[in-house]
Amino acid sequence: MQPATAKFGSLELVTSPSVMTPRETSTGLVACVADHLEDRPGVVVDVGTGSGAIALAVAQAAPHAAVWATDVSSAAVELARLNARRAGLEDRVTVRHGNLLDPFPGAADVIVANLPYLPITERRRYPELDREPVNAVFADGDGLGLVRRLVAAARRRLAPDGLLALQVRGRIHSARRPELQALEHLLAYPAAIAA
Ligand SMILES: C[S@@+](CC[C@H](N)C(=O)[O-])C[C@H]1O[C@@H](n2cnc3c(N)ncnc32)[C@H](O)[C@@H]1O
Repeated sequence: MQPATAKFGSLELVTSPSVMTPRETSTGLVACVADHLEDRPGVVVDVGTGSGAIALAVAQAAPHAAVWATDVSSAAVELARLNARRAGLEDRVTVRHGNLLDPFPGAADVIVANLPYLPITERRRYPELDREPVNAVFADGDGLGLVRRLVAAARRRLAPDGLLALQVRGRIHSARRPELQALEHLLAYPAAIAA
């Protein structure tokens, strides 16, 4: 039997009930990263890679970039590695199991992430997410704790003019390292982030 697949840009990715199925909205993150890098080589980390969609699409769009991908879910790591092999990108995309940036050594030119950001208390408002693994989409409190931790980690791990690009509530938010405070400010007032 053929595995279930989903389109993400020009990629056809194998999906799994244990891993979030990528959404086309996230191709906006890929464009943002590719615009930043242009044709330069650079190191990109996709945090919370899931199926590997963003990491693999970035590797395609930025052919001189070295891409890392991390996830706390072993199922996601396995699936992202499978998709990297299927796309012929396993030499340029390194997939590692672990928390946020922990598995990645060194400094990154770009950190990109579509992490869980919805409060678990709002689960019933999103029936369209019923088939997704809960931990891939929802988080405790106001839902933004992981994203805030990533912004704090980016202060230490981004190259001086590096870029952080995030998807939060369907929108893309990006900032270069000297401008990270603007993102911190935005995340301190979640009501400012449209639902
Ligand atoms: C909303 S899904 C997005 C998956 C993928 N980036 C995409 O756009 O299709 C969030 C992913 O973040 C992962 N995740 C959750 N907490 C994490 C953490 N602390 N460190 C790394 N990944 C995490 C989940 O396992 C899940 O695969």
